[in-house]
Amino acid sequence: GTDVAGAAGRDDVEVIAHRGSSGVAPENTLAAVRLAVRQGSDVIENDVQRTADGALVIMHDSTLTRTTDVEQVFPDRAPWRVGDLTLAEIKQLDAGSWFAPEFAGERVPTLEEWMDAVGRRAGMLLEPKNPALYPGIEQDLDEALRELPDYRRSARSGRIVVQSFDHAWLRDYAEVAPEVRVGLLYGTRPGDADIEAAAEWADQVNPSLAVTTEATVDAVHAEGLEIHVWTVNDGAGMRRATDWDVDGIITNYPQVLIDLQAQG
Ligand code: G3P
Ligand code: CA
Repeated sequence: GTDVAGAAGRDDVEVIAHRGSSGVAPENTLAAVRLAVRQGSDVIENDVQRTADGALVIMHDSTLTRTTDVEQVFPDRAPWRVGDLTLAEIKQLDAGSWFAPEFAGERVPTLEEWMDAVGRRAGMLLEPKNPALYPGIEQDLDEALRELPDYRRSARSGRIVVQSFDHAWLRDYAEVAPEVRVGLLYGTRPGDADIEAAAEWADQVNPSLAVTTEATVDAVHAEGLEIHVWTVNDGAGMRRATDWDVDGIITNYPQVLIDLQAQG
């Protein structure tokens, strides 16, 4: 987190926009990313997958059906996997209308477009989804991130973080890019042995708030790691996580957390 020694408090908890500002704009689009940046989020979280022709794109599901009109545009391409369509094909899809009519015409962003949209005003939290579906995606991600003009400084300062539920894959990535911080995602409560093992090579333990207790937060901090909890959309959960002194809160509603922090 951004904690200043001796000044730990509510404002120090990082506001992390989950899939962009996805409560009020379509997830994993530039509209959601730009809104999250404008709102003043500290970090923007998005998901990454790979197209049939090897482009990295911002998408949560391994198929395109939930968040685009792919079934209408390419009716004969079931099951509509990201990895089965080319970038040019995916760029024809509408990734906004499913959410609300005013977002019609939003496109599936490439990772490069996403990096441009985040710019220098916020941190980058990237989650390659189902990396086992995309052999070598750790190399692709590494090459893409190195295109950032301030890559080395950003990596060293912790402005770039890569997280995954696939801990074996994350370890491969950490070997490719040892200067980038990495976070282990957990859908079930991480035990003391998990946290101790994580401290050997990772930087963050990022569990669902639903499985997190104050003891989890303390155990992660005792190992010198950070803890970022997800996905916290209500004020009560935000207050609870803040009181436990987590380092970051991942939320679909960054504005709600920012307003809460402003109240003190
Ligand atoms: O940032 C944590 C969270 O994104 C993990 O779950 O399914 O929203 O990618 P999911
Ligand atoms: Ca994610």
